[in-house]
Amino acid sequence: MDVSIVGGSGYAGGELARLLFQHPKATVKHVTSRKNAGKPISLLHPNFDGVSRIKFSLPDMDAVARDVDVVFLATPHHTSHAFVPDLLDTGVKVIDLSADFRLKSVERYEYFYGEHDHPEYLEKAVYGMPELHAEAIKNAMLIAVPGCHASSAIYSLYPVLSNDLIEPFPIIVDSKTGSTGAGIVPTPASHHPARANVIRPYKLTGHRHTAEIEQALLPSLAKNQQHAFKVSFSAHAIDAVRGILSTVHVFLKEELDSERPLYKAFRRFSKNQPFIRFIKKNAGLFKLPDPKTIIGSNFCDIGFEKDPLSSRLVIVSALDNLVKGAAGNAVQCFNIACGFAETTGLDAMPIFPL
Ligand SMILES: NC(=O)c1ccc[n+]([C@@H]2O[C@H](COP(=O)([O-])OP(=O)(O)OC[C@H]3O[C@@H](n4cnc5c(N)ncnc54)[C@H](OP(=O)(O)O)[C@@H]3O)[C@@H](O)[C@H]2O)c1
Repeated sequence: MDVSIVGGSGYAGGELARLLFQHPKATVKHVTSRKNAGKPISLLHPNFDGVSRIKFSLPDMDAVARDVDVVFLATPHHTSHAFVPDLLDTGVKVIDLSADFRLKSVERYEYFYGEHDHPEYLEKAVYGMPELHAEAIKNAMLIAVPGCHASSAIYSLYPVLSNDLIEPFPIIVDSKTGSTGAGIVPTPASHHPARANVIRPYKLTGHRHTAEIEQALLPSLAKNQQHAFKVSFSAHAIDAVRGILSTVHVFLKEELDSERPLYKAFRRFSKNQPFIRFIKKNAGLFKLPDPKTIIGSNFCDIGFEKDPLSSRLVIVSALDNLVKGAAGNAVQCFNIACGFAETTGLDAMPIFPL
């Protein structure tokens, strides 16, 4: 398959290029950047020195779609509104990493992100979470890749909600992220003296990913539980370049005599999913998921601990925001949509120690 990457000078676009350059069934034809058009990709992404001589081009949608099968959009929110209709008209598949087409409800979209220029495409887009929507992804023309915090929260909660093990409220997700989550454009908050050594609460309430977490998980609840379902999400910036760790506090419906139903739910979810690992060990330093053990890979690790003093269950999940939280998941969707094995080009092991 021939592919283009729009927004290739950014962090998610660079990670897409890394994965697609190594993908045995993909050829990257165009990588765009307005600011760097004409310059070699390795000038911005030095990991491609000696790997690719491709040069950035301008994001002209006619040109990027002309000779390819799939276009990846790795551009900021609101940018895909203008690109998607023109691209779909040419017959290419579009895999969008932004939030522009993730939500079904235009009201929810506009509450969190502002006006939507093409709400008529919201229903047509498929939420690109392979573990939940593989069938729909197979035939989709427009795939909206989930957000990084949202993915971590959804993978944590799906096993217990779909097995009716926890109360639908309260559900508290406390998520921590590295600096690449904020993109490549420097801001006062990302300036090194301000960003280094932080454990900073940056969005304690009203985080945009709350909407997609609730949308993705609602159908997994029993009908009589759905009205009460609510997710409370908070985000922190931590002193790391990559990685997300979400700590999720939920409450069991009934006191369990043993943890077997919990083990069963997490094992069943991870068993047939190549990139979801259930991590809960009795020994060693890494008994539970830890971003240090997944960086560079498409894994999301999930695990739990039951509070012996109450009905609280604490679930943790770790993923690399640029891989399973963005580009890796996008390539997994690409594989499914193009009929390749889901893991094609995604078999790189995590780097350890990091
Ligand atoms: N970073 C993450 O961890 C992460 C995780 C999940 C999802 N995402 C999503 O992925 C998308 C990209 O994120 P990122 O962190 O890679 O952002 P980024 O580092 O800021 O990169 C954005 C890219 O888009 C290009 N761009 C910006 N405005 C454009 C426009 N109007 N038209 C065409 N190209 C434009 C930029 O290059 P030029 O300005 O030179 O054109 C750059 O290549 C975002 O929607 C983000 O929410 C990111």
